[in-house]
Amino acid sequence: MAEEILRIRGGLPLRGEVTVQGAKNSALPLMAAALLCSGETCFTNVPQLTDVYAASRILNRLGCRCHITGNTVRIVNSGEGGCEIPDADMRAMRSSIMFLGPVLGSRKECILTMPGGCELGPRPIDLHLDAMRQMGVRIRSLDGVMHCKAGKLCGAHIHLPIPSVGVTENIIMAAVAAEGETVITNAACEPEITDLAGYLNACGAAICGAGEQTVVIQGGKKLTGTEYRVMPDRIAAMTYLCAGAAAGGAVCLRDAEPKHLESCLAVLEQAGCTVGICGNRIFLDRSGTLRSIRYIKTMPYPGFPTDVQALISAVLCTARGTSLLEETIFENRFKHMSELMRMGADIRVSGRIAAISGVKSLNGADVSAADLRGGAALAVAAAAAEGETVIHGLHHLDRGYENFAETFHNLGIRAERVSFFASEHEKSRLKPKKC
Ligand code: UD1
Repeated sequence: MAEEILRIRGGLPLRGEVTVQGAKNSALPLMAAALLCSGETCFTNVPQLTDVYAASRILNRLGCRCHITGNTVRIVNSGEGGCEIPDADMRAMRSSIMFLGPVLGSRKECILTMPGGCELGPRPIDLHLDAMRQMGVRIRSLDGVMHCKAGKLCGAHIHLPIPSVGVTENIIMAAVAAEGETVITNAACEPEITDLAGYLNACGAAICGAGEQTVVIQGGKKLTGTEYRVMPDRIAAMTYLCAGAAAGGAVCLRDAEPKHLESCLAVLEQAGCTVGICGNRIFLDRSGTLRSIRYIKTMPYPGFPTDVQALISAVLCTARGTSLLEETIFENRFKHMSELMRMGADIRVSGRIAAISGVKSLNGADVSAADLRGGAALAVAAAAAEGETVIHGLHHLDRGYENFAETFHNLGIRAERVSFFASEHEKSRLKPKKC
């Protein structure tokens, strides 16, 4: 069995500049939203990722013509085509659920199955379905296939029990095609939602309050495709800043959006890093000792993001003192902790809380990524560790990072992606566990 692995030789301070890629979590709903707009849409700054290719496959199956050239994605929507998303495409990624709202908006019918991406624990879609029901959609479920039908989509007042990012996005996309006004209360405020509304408004929609807790959408406007640049990826930006914080040295990010990173940059400063901002550039310098952080709790935006929890945990492994991390958004987001322990970290996990006691240094080890950000956290730890780390499970990283090894290399980290032939013993150890 040939597999690709990432070899990282760490332990040296970083020095380098990187350009932040476009945001995966924005590009995927944006691509789905193109279904609602007639004519041609051209997205620029789209990262080249396996999840983006999966979204492109779904659009083509739904009757659009989607072409990817480098970081540009062109989508031509004739307004005609199917309404069924095949099970294999639904399973390819969690974000396939982002097609529910736009397919209902454009076809008034959608046939789909449960989305994939279960590695963070159970990820129900009940709130997506409830919201669509409130907009007049009837849903029948037969042998795991959901048939969703709307004679007509109606605007509604929808209060979310939790501020879910995906549900807020799905409602916005269905609401622009619905009759009348939709009001979402307790909406998620993540910047990716503002980006989605920015695109739809540029196409002719009337969405007010995106990025705030109450969003108001006047439906029924005619939408025409346009050119739109995807926002910078705040989680990728934090990955490279965390590598600088963990290994020490000086890192500069170009094309970042510092406003989106306020809670994260504050934590890096508390940990002993010096952070500077100049327009869309972020500079990080860490020459002194890392300090522990008494308590970090993941929260919806503008709080500390759950997607950065794994990355900051890798930084805190060598910080002086004990840090407490509480994960409040997902049930199973500590899988990277046991791999960090293989690298010499001192971590105790109890339910949703991890206590990280700083050690003098980490050592290189053979580790395996169990999810996207957990895998990135192992790479951050590897940049700081003495000796060589080998990371398996790169398909997780490929879902979210464009040219990960090259980007690490640009920061002065000795990182290379190579083919690896596993022995029988290694194959059984590396076999993915069912979740
Ligand atoms: C998005 C991001 C993901 C990020 C997360 C939280 C994308 C593609 N992914 O995921 O990287 O970690 O926001 O910032 O944008 N929930 C339900 N029922 C539902 C939907 C969600 O119970 O129908 C729960 C989830 O299990 C979770 C919480 O709501 O506990 C928040 O999840 P949500 O904001 O929906 O995350 P995603 O949109 O899936």
